[in-house]
Amino acid sequence: MTRILGIETSCDETSAAVLEGRGDDVVQKSLVILSQDVHRVFGGVVPEIASRAHLTSIVPVVDRALQEARVKLDDLDAVAVTNAPGLVGALLVGMSYGKALAFSRGIPLIGVHHMEGHLFAAALEHREAVPPFTALLISGGHTLLLDVEAWGKYRMLGATRDDAAGEAFDKVAKLLGLPYPGGRYVEQLARDGNPDRFRFARPMVRRNSQPGDDDYYAFSFSGLKTAVLNAVRASSNIEADKSDIARGFQDSLIDTLVEKTWRAADALGRTRVVLGGGVACNRTLAAAMRARLEPEGIILFTPTPRLATDNAAMIARAGLFRFENGERSGLDLNAYASSTIPGLVTA
Ligand code: KG4
Ligand code: ZN
Repeated sequence: MTRILGIETSCDETSAAVLEGRGDDVVQKSLVILSQDVHRVFGGVVPEIASRAHLTSIVPVVDRALQEARVKLDDLDAVAVTNAPGLVGALLVGMSYGKALAFSRGIPLIGVHHMEGHLFAAALEHREAVPPFTALLISGGHTLLLDVEAWGKYRMLGATRDDAAGEAFDKVAKLLGLPYPGGRYVEQLARDGNPDRFRFARPMVRRNSQPGDDDYYAFSFSGLKTAVLNAVRASSNIEADKSDIARGFQDSLIDTLVEKTWRAADALGRTRVVLGGGVACNRTLAAAMRARLEPEGIILFTPTPRLATDNAAMIARAGLFRFENGERSGLDLNAYASSTIPGLVTA
């Protein structure tokens, strides 16, 4: 059994978690997430402010995670920390602290790719959310459709050509005068919206599309965002129209995500689909995905919101896999704004 501390500071959450386990038999002993509310007033994450906020909270957040797990530093076998992708200044705070802990206790350090963490989140709650499966990772910065043959063996099927799904939600929220980050407000507003008033085109979904086509699994959301902008500009009473516009936008985006995910699971014969990333909090999406997949005998796994959004438990979980795989990072581990998931092949 391994007891591992996870640390995550890639964006605007300072988070630490302790897990214990072996293979897919893992128990989450604690998870602490401190969200930086300060960015709301700017309508987006300000990198320099994020780094400074991580600096003031990293020590108490890690202490609290150890306390809640009832473990001492000496009880840890390894430290896993996000080193990419993300805001470099923000990543460096968690990494420096993780390195110092690992060095002072003489235990291994494991650098973890943030998106690989998102892949492992559902497995923390659902024992069957393990490979092989089709994965759809939908966050503020990424939209990735992957085939997961085994942990560490990933095949890229499709990605966004422009905006990420979460980014599209956030930009539409801004257009509709909602707070940042706006995904959940758009979802709330759309609930009362009329689905028939604004029907936006489904991006990259052609009826006659075939598996070999280069847009078969691809996503694009910037055209949809422009369509929403035009609808907002054309509206003579935006207060009256905004829930219908939100509904039209969300229906189009969800239809696209569901269709591409179904295509991937079907083509590869996968009977499990795993969602990850902040947009996986969207319950309308999960319901639509389930309605499409379950009649085909495919089971959907979604993490609860606390594990779908950025958190250190998923980092510890991915770190445990890498640790058991014999991987170790040196104290020269670096932070990267962008990097590919280890074990990912594009085909
Ligand atoms: O994974 P995450 O916490 O951070 C990144 O790694 O980016 O994802 C944040 C994104 C934001 O764009 C936010 O608006 C979106 O997840 N989000 C949602 C919902 N809750 C969060 N989008 C749609 N519906 C939601 N309920
Ligand atoms: Zn994330």
